[in-house]
Amino acid sequence: MEPIEEMSLWSGVPQAPVDPIYSVSLAYKADTHPQKVDVSVGAYRCPGGKPFVMKCIYEAEKRLLGANKEYLPIDGICDFNRNSAELLFGDAMKGHEKRMVTVQALSGTGALRLGVIFIRKYLPAGTIVYASRPTWTNHHNICKESGVPSAEYAYYDTKNSRLDFDGMMRDIENAPNGSVFILHLCAHNPTGCDPTREQWEAIADLMAKKRHIPFMDCAYQGYASGDLDNDAFSARLFFERGFELLSAQSYSKNFGLYGERAGALTIVSKKADNIPRMLSQLKMDIRAMYSSPPTHGARLVATILADPELRALWVTELKEMSGRIREMRQALLDALKERNVPGDWTHITSQIGMFTYTGLNPAQVKLLVEKYHIYLLSSGRVSVAGLNHNNVAYVADAIADAVANVQ
Ligand code: LMR
Repeated sequence: MEPIEEMSLWSGVPQAPVDPIYSVSLAYKADTHPQKVDVSVGAYRCPGGKPFVMKCIYEAEKRLLGANKEYLPIDGICDFNRNSAELLFGDAMKGHEKRMVTVQALSGTGALRLGVIFIRKYLPAGTIVYASRPTWTNHHNICKESGVPSAEYAYYDTKNSRLDFDGMMRDIENAPNGSVFILHLCAHNPTGCDPTREQWEAIADLMAKKRHIPFMDCAYQGYASGDLDNDAFSARLFFERGFELLSAQSYSKNFGLYGERAGALTIVSKKADNIPRMLSQLKMDIRAMYSSPPTHGARLVATILADPELRALWVTELKEMSGRIREMRQALLDALKERNVPGDWTHITSQIGMFTYTGLNPAQVKLLVEKYHIYLLSSGRVSVAGLNHNNVAYVADAIADAVANVQ
């Protein structure tokens, strides 16, 4: 036995696994190679490859200079919450405001976490939260750390680089009635592959039959098609069909507010009289975790959404950003074709949003990282926003090498 003064209460703390996204981005930052490329984390980069602050944010920041730093209400800024719900649900929510509750959250992750805690407390014990296979790597962590069982539903057909719609429908059908399904609003992370409108309708039909609960993860509204309303189709469909649903909105990508942690959780109820009690419980959870949300990011979003000129500027900039990503998809596809890289790479341009799920295997990814200093996720996910006209040929050369020489 160790002498008492050598013992620590914490000696039994096991090492947690590294985060599969942040660890890659950190490795990129530590690399000193002059040609290194970061296509790991889902964060927009300007054509010069640098982090980017939108003009509408500059403008809003000027207006907010000197704003007080007092605590926000526990549930956040009232206008921010209302405008967040309107941005997502649009006209579909008109007349239904009283049966919805929105609270400001620590971006998408915080909103998901609050929502999953709510599920644990108020849905029947053992309710399973289903996430797509593959999905954003944090979904299962959030459920696990909240003490909620999670499982996967089929989503992507890796062989044919497209949605596995039949598999998805089969798993929705086979899940116990009343399960929660995390559905990516649009621009699915990591595959960039969304259901069509007809497929969404069929998903909604089946979800209704099974009494499942949609939990919309809305991190990329505006990034899929460049059109905010178009991108919100799935959430509006579920809303219009009368589902009691949850939504987690992040403003990290569409306002470029990554580190500001601005987001919102909305929960829809069939009955308006549930809402005050639901809000009281959400506020109690927030107060017990972090008292009240941060001010700056949400104030920026609220300022932009409430001002027609700033809002128009934001919409224009968002179109430019999603347009630049589409341009880079085409540039990568063209460069691979020029190099006659074996295989069909057209999924690079048919996929949408920030990511392309290249189909490169972990060994090929390893070559890209170790030989070329190109940092992507081991799943083969590339953040297309990290590509630009200076690095796309280099990345295509590396992919050509990996495909030719690594099985
Ligand atoms: C990503 O998927 O790269 C982003 O959503 C960043 C994150 O938090 O994982």
